[in-house]
Amino acid sequence: MFNIHAVDHIGIATENLETAIETFSKILGTKATEIVRLLDYNIKTSFFSMGNTKIELIAPLERNGPIIDFLAKRGKGIHHLCFKVDNIQKVTTSLKSNGFRLTNESLSIDAHGRKIIFLHPSTSEGVLIELVEE
Ligand code: CO
Repeated sequence: MFNIHAVDHIGIATENLETAIETFSKILGTKATEIVRLLDYNIKTSFFSMGNTKIELIAPLERNGPIIDFLAKRGKGIHHLCFKVDNIQKVTTSLKSNGFRLTNESLSIDAHGRKIIFLHPSTSEGVLIELVEE
């Protein structure tokens, strides 16, 4: 039995969302979704759909917040992988009991109203992992 059964999207940290949208439109040959502002996270995002997965471009809204910290530390580029799970509570509990750290103990809601949680990169080989329940 798998904990995880698909890549929902790949998150990319950018400094300028409009420029990044232009770049990825050219690479992927398709248009991005409307820009969504997530005030709780101090970010704005836009998605590209590609088959069963998506590319999420993320940029900071203001001069603080998690994306600013990431950009300062690691520069722009791949920020997180998001995996689809059937039961986020169950998978999270099982991963926690296996020693995996979460960035935040409680579930959040993403730009599409779905339940999400993040695994801290310190226990997943330097990769920030987002879990999403459909
Ligand atoms: Co994401």
